[in-house]
Amino acid sequence: MAAELRAFGCESREIEGGAEFAVPIEALPALLPRLQCASRLLVRVAEGRVDTPAAVAALLAQVPWSVLPEAPARVVLRLSAHGAPPDRIRWLEAELLRGLAARFGAQRTSRGAASGEGTELAIAARLEARVCTLSLDAGGAPLHQRGYRLEAGPAPLRETLAAALLHAAGWQGQGTLWDPMCGSGTIAIEAARSAALRAGRPLPVTRGYAVDTWRIQAAPKLSAAPQLPVAANILAGDLDPGVLEIAQRNAVRAGVADLVTWQCAELAAQDVTAQGQGFVVTNPPYGQRLGGRNAMRRLVQRLGAVLARQCDGWKFAALLWERDLIDQLPLRDAEVREVDNGGLKLWLTAGELTSRPRLHARSRGAR
Ligand SMILES: C[S@@+](CC[C@H](N)C(=O)[O-])C[C@H]1O[C@@H](n2cnc3c(N)ncnc32)[C@H](O)[C@@H]1O
Repeated sequence: MAAELRAFGCESREIEGGAEFAVPIEALPALLPRLQCASRLLVRVAEGRVDTPAAVAALLAQVPWSVLPEAPARVVLRLSAHGAPPDRIRWLEAELLRGLAARFGAQRTSRGAASGEGTELAIAARLEARVCTLSLDAGGAPLHQRGYRLEAGPAPLRETLAAALLHAAGWQGQGTLWDPMCGSGTIAIEAARSAALRAGRPLPVTRGYAVDTWRIQAAPKLSAAPQLPVAANILAGDLDPGVLEIAQRNAVRAGVADLVTWQCAELAAQDVTAQGQGFVVTNPPYGQRLGGRNAMRRLVQRLGAVLARQCDGWKFAALLWERDLIDQLPLRDAEVREVDNGGLKLWLTAGELTSRPRLHARSRGAR
């Protein structure tokens, strides 16, 4: 996320679970559709000690109500806390809900998370000991819900995680990119979307954002760069013809069908030797689904052999279900990071491929 924000000229500071940055509120409608790795965009609007009902009222008075929808269909409050006793948390939630109900009506006000339906005002409150911060959810529905993936195969990857994998590989929207196990096409489509955005090509509007309903004068697009030809060659394959059809329909909805070449084949039969060097970004299937750990190990081994044969010098990133599967991949200077995929621990592995298999395992050890 921080790297992505830098590319838009926004300096950010990495914080636990995210990155914080400052932009004029008017920039948000143009920024939101371009953010690819973030799950939510929260705008901090108020902060203060909350010891008394009057202090909570003063906190709510800091919110810039004049830029928000006057009569939202729904107002939802989500409170998280750290270092505060349960009775203070309950008291604060009740006070905040009371204040919001006084402004918008009790029937429209409840606790809950943003759903992105209709004109909704989603407020996130964070209590740290005695200090509360209020933020407005500028996105609405979680940002991984791009609106193009209306169908999926088994174990689809979150769009935001696919975008983060592409960043980890160093993909900048140019050159050859190959996903040999593409499933519903998420990685290939995210790669194509980022290539199109970087080339200044407009993409179809497939979802709305809460900020679209705010009473602000949207600033012109962040980058008014002229439209350039998309210089990306994206290849995606899968052995399952049904899932490949889904991927193709998703690409049409995303407006990038012309940027991806699909191939229905087992990964060893997908030939990329004529492509020069590029990027391999993929998400191999999970053990149970594949028929157990040994089968998973054999498949990753097979992937490793194919990559060693075809992709010397290519950049690589993948999500692995077990850390020591990295031993099966012909990687030089591999970096491994633990990531959370909806509560499931995965290993984001990135590095450069080499034709000498197991160099990484020998030189660095995988654990
Ligand atoms: C975890 S899914 C990929 C999910 C994908 N990233 C998405 O977002 O939908 C793994 C895919 O690998 C494919 N696959 C499994 N073994 C394969 C093989 N030997 N060659 C090619 N594809 C394979 C499966 O059909 C499945 O679609």
